[in-house]
Amino acid sequence: MRGNYIRSIRFQEFPHHKYPFNIKAITTLPEIEFTTPVTFLVGDNGVGKSTLIEAIAVAYGFNPEGGSLHLQFETHATHSELYQYLTFVRNAVLKPKDGFFLRSESMYNLTSTLSQMGDETLENYGGSSLDAYSHGESFLTLFMNHINDNGFYILDEPESGLSPEAQMALMVKIHELAEVKGSQFFIATHSPILLSYPGATIIQLSEQGAQLVDYDSVGFVQLYRRIMNDSDYIQRLFNND
Ligand SMILES: Nc1ncnc2c1ncn2[C@@H]1O[C@H](COP(=O)(O)OP(=O)(O)OP(=O)(O)O)[C@@H](O)[C@H]1O
Ligand SMILES: [Mg+2]
Repeated sequence: MRGNYIRSIRFQEFPHHKYPFNIKAITTLPEIEFTTPVTFLVGDNGVGKSTLIEAIAVAYGFNPEGGSLHLQFETHATHSELYQYLTFVRNAVLKPKDGFFLRSESMYNLTSTLSQMGDETLENYGGSSLDAYSHGESFLTLFMNHINDNGFYILDEPESGLSPEAQMALMVKIHELAEVKGSQFFIATHSPILLSYPGATIIQLSEQGAQLVDYDSVGFVQLYRRIMNDSDYIQRLFNND
């Protein structure tokens, strides 16, 4: 049987107007509905993507610093109180076996914690110290080796440090987990490569709130196209044309 584990997320009344409840894109959010196995979150820097994604991850039971569901460690908690004001509408029948939260700011903390944890844990995460890998390699190694089951996966800018080829390898893995194993993904991204995942839902956050958009109308997709199709585009930017 197929379907999403988390069918939607509802918001309770917020208690005050300071951070994170001063973020327009979040306070104007209606219910978030998950209708496809892969859902992307896009929007400008500072619009509120990580704040939202971290709140969802913490409310779901992940460590605020990221990792799998059983991994509990604390370095420096910086997540907001938004997680207390979310309600999940869960699938009554489907239960995920696994899960992983990639927090964009804490990949380093996560990999060094795993490195300090003895061989058994490291076996699961690729068999050697993740510190020995480059930024992009450490996430890719961890994801390719550790993640094999159906699960709920929350990834904040997983493209960070990944070459286009590595992003495509990641997409093949996401496809396997989503289509073959029945996993659910919620991914914040600035990558036009990841965002091109066929059949995904794209939620765009902005000062006006949240909108469902299609790939071709996403601002950074249009901008990449203009830059790559027009060799003078950046020179004109310098000239203020
Ligand atoms: N601990 C905090 N206290 C107060 N404001 C914060 C805190 N953390 C983030 N903010 C503010 O909340 C807003 C949303 O930040 P957030 O990190 O969610 O943005 P984002 O959409 O993930 O951006 P990016 O694309 O750069 O990752 C920003 O204006 C940011 O400065
Ligand atoms: Mg962010």
